[in-house]
Amino acid sequence: MTLIEWTPEFSLGVAELDNEHRDMIQIVNRLYQQVQSGRYQTTVIDALEELHTSAASHFAHEEEMMRAHNYAAYEEHYADHRRLLAEVTAMVHQCQDGVDDDAVMAKWLYEWFCHHFKTHDAPLHQLICV
Ligand SMILES: [Fe+2]
Ligand SMILES: [Fe+2]
Repeated sequence: MTLIEWTPEFSLGVAELDNEHRDMIQIVNRLYQQVQSGRYQTTVIDALEELHTSAASHFAHEEEMMRAHNYAAYEEHYADHRRLLAEVTAMVHQCQDGVDDDAVMAKWLYEWFCHHFKTHDAPLHQLICV
């Protein structure tokens, strides 16, 4: 089962960033499937660490673009990236401690990607794609 379907609304018109978002959605969906299919703790932790690596690289890329465009909302966007990375690290620790709640994990994964995308990425791309 897929948690987040790629839809045209996720397409922002910058091929590299769109591909990075697709990669992150794939990792999120894989994580969701792993959680649903029996909670193989180390597998989930590995996937969370992969998500952290992929997100850190993507965020650095977006931040570079924001600086290049002198983007007014840079500080808020940058701070939200740091928050997202910290949340992934906190989720790794929760999994290491054996806390498992599939519904909480699914809700968190969905919000983790979609909330930031809608509130920060979409406005950014409206600016840089004009
Ligand atoms: Fe993004
Ligand atoms: Fe972002």
